[in-house]
Amino acid sequence: MPEQRLSRNTGLDLVRTTEAAALVAARWMGLGLRDEADQAASTAMASVLDGLEIDGRIVCGEEGRDSPPTALVGGRQVGTGRGVAVDVVVDAIDGRRLLARGRPGAVAVAAVSTRGALWSPAPALYMDKLVVDRTVAPYLVPECLDAPAAWTLGLIARAKRKAVRDLTIFVLERPRHADLIDEIRAAGARVMLADDGDISGALLAASHDSPVDALMGVGGTAEGVIAACAVKALGGGMLARLAPQSPAEAAAVADAALDTRRVRSLEDLISGNQIFFVATGITDGLLLKGVHFDGDRASTNSLILRSETRTRRLIFAEHLLEHGS
Ligand code: FBP
Repeated sequence: MPEQRLSRNTGLDLVRTTEAAALVAARWMGLGLRDEADQAASTAMASVLDGLEIDGRIVCGEEGRDSPPTALVGGRQVGTGRGVAVDVVVDAIDGRRLLARGRPGAVAVAAVSTRGALWSPAPALYMDKLVVDRTVAPYLVPECLDAPAAWTLGLIARAKRKAVRDLTIFVLERPRHADLIDEIRAAGARVMLADDGDISGALLAASHDSPVDALMGVGGTAEGVIAACAVKALGGGMLARLAPQSPAEAAAVADAALDTRRVRSLEDLISGNQIFFVATGITDGLLLKGVHFDGDRASTNSLILRSETRTRRLIFAEHLLEHGS
């Protein structure tokens, strides 16, 4: 059978799904209703996804990690069923708490790749991640996840021809990261603590022209697989290892015979090179500006990445709002 190829226009089709999610989600900004916002944005995204000419399957959803199921659960078929068979990963809102609290950095994201290319870590919920840009990627070794942070920071600094004290490391602010944060600070590097949103953190770490040099620490597995699509499309580097955070998760991971010692490379997370990743800002952030409403119009800012050509497109769009939306 000839290799199925994704159309070069896939990214432009896919960005409509994140625009739709962002436009709906932005109406919930600051209302304190995290899950309601997620339901509404996911339903909007699912409805646009279902109109795409793809035979899609959502590979890993976020359900199980304090998220009630939405219209975008893992395993769901999406698209008209008539196009190329693809794996799909989506997050209608990465940073639900950020949005609910009116904070910067919430984004809507989606990625597609040819069928079978994406690793599906279900039922694992958390993974340890290290993300770097294209300058550092060739130097990443599996030991980076176990070595003292100072060693890994030294490697990153040498690859970037920077001093360790000039490095900025994105870390989610969580009690589980207390030692990691202490280690990074003791090594002399700077820590950018984030309340939420490690997909944006991974994108910033993988972009050679951003203020973030690396992402370190444990976050969601679904977010890790989505981020891997973006990192690969940017030519960056990533290591990941499952890191169950509760006895129940550890038992489920063991039952599924998933190896928690194995350090996975970017190629393990996403094979092949036919990948499209898109993101649309919901609230203003370092990565993208958010949705801005102005009367009967709203503007969105999105990013489209295509792995095969390493193209990075920024799309500004102005939308005429339907009455009531
Ligand atoms: P949600 O938007 O789904 O709530 O995810 C936000 C997030 O910060 C992710 O970016 C990250 O991977 C995950 O939560 C970390 O999980 P936890 O909040 O349980 O530490």
